[in-house]
Amino acid sequence: MLILILFTICQSVIVSLDKTCLCTEIFVENDCTAFGCKFESKLCSNLGCSDVTSRVECDSRFDCSFDHKTQTCSAFSQCNAYYVDAEEQCFNKGNQVIGCVSSGKKTGGFYQCTNYLAKQMNYIVCSDQLTSSSCNGVQSDGYRCVWKSISNECVAFQLDSCSDASDLNESLCNVSYCVWLNNDCNEKQCKDFTSQSSCSFVPHLDGDSFTICTWSANQCVELSSVSQLQQSNCSSITLGTYFWNNVKNECIECEGFGKLFLMSFIILIASF
Ligand SMILES: *[C@@H]1O[C@H](CO)[C@@H](O)[C@H](O)[C@H]1NC(C)=O
Ligand SMILES: *[C@@H]1O[C@H](CO)[C@@H](O)[C@H](O)[C@H]1NC(C)=O
Ligand SMILES: *[C@@H]1O[C@H](CO)[C@@H](O)[C@H](O)[C@H]1NC(C)=O
Repeated sequence: MLILILFTICQSVIVSLDKTCLCTEIFVENDCTAFGCKFESKLCSNLGCSDVTSRVECDSRFDCSFDHKTQTCSAFSQCNAYYVDAEEQCFNKGNQVIGCVSSGKKTGGFYQCTNYLAKQMNYIVCSDQLTSSSCNGVQSDGYRCVWKSISNECVAFQLDSCSDASDLNESLCNVSYCVWLNNDCNEKQCKDFTSQSSCSFVPHLDGDSFTICTWSANQCVELSSVSQLQQSNCSSITLGTYFWNNVKNECIECEGFGKLFLMSFIILIASF
């Protein structure tokens, strides 16, 4: 008995916040509602984000965030979906994984929040930039932000095909692959070479293919067939992708890397 009393006196209750009850662990209705849960059909359950009307309560829920512009609580999606009255309120948005900070941009009286990590990496979201001076940087997907002056918007840009630079800026229309005309950026063609000395080939944006050109009737045109080539020009005109076969007397396409791979495979097998 004495031991039990001593034990009781010495005991202290230590609680840990990571053991905080879940709504579903509460049985009594009063406890349930006092705890910020909803009591329905004799069960205590979590309030959905849209059931929460108070800003403070909404932001205190890790899964919900309150938007000051629309005055609504919703399940957190991404930082830039939230607008706040004061920049530091962005800290209350987010979830366990994504933290938000102010983007520093104020529109219609509200600051828009942005992803903390993205800001650390200096990544920006092109479409969020509202002026040509802020439209300067790179998105997390690697696209560059470029100001489109005909529509006054900041767009994400990467030259995958020449037309991506159309309506943007001549400086983006890479002259190695494309030609700029009337605000349009188009794939370069053999006919765009106007002298015999420049008439050689057009590189493609994929980086490893080329259109072979040839000078004919005072203009630069596409080479239609390698059958026009002879021993003297077979390999040079095709940039070394064809070689003259003097048994067949023909200009023959090489197997290139395919052959190289096969050869090294044979060597590997032979060495065992
Ligand atoms: C095109 O880009 C250059 C250099 O970046 C800039 O000086 C020029 O103003 C741009 N032109 C237009 C129409 O945006
Ligand atoms: C055009 O592309 C080449 C090869 O990818 C690159 O070296 C060059 O810097 C580019 N020029 C411009 C103006 O973007
Ligand atoms: C290749 O050389 C042959 C023979 O000299 C010539 O007739 C032909 O026009 C040349 N082809 C090209 C595309 O230059």
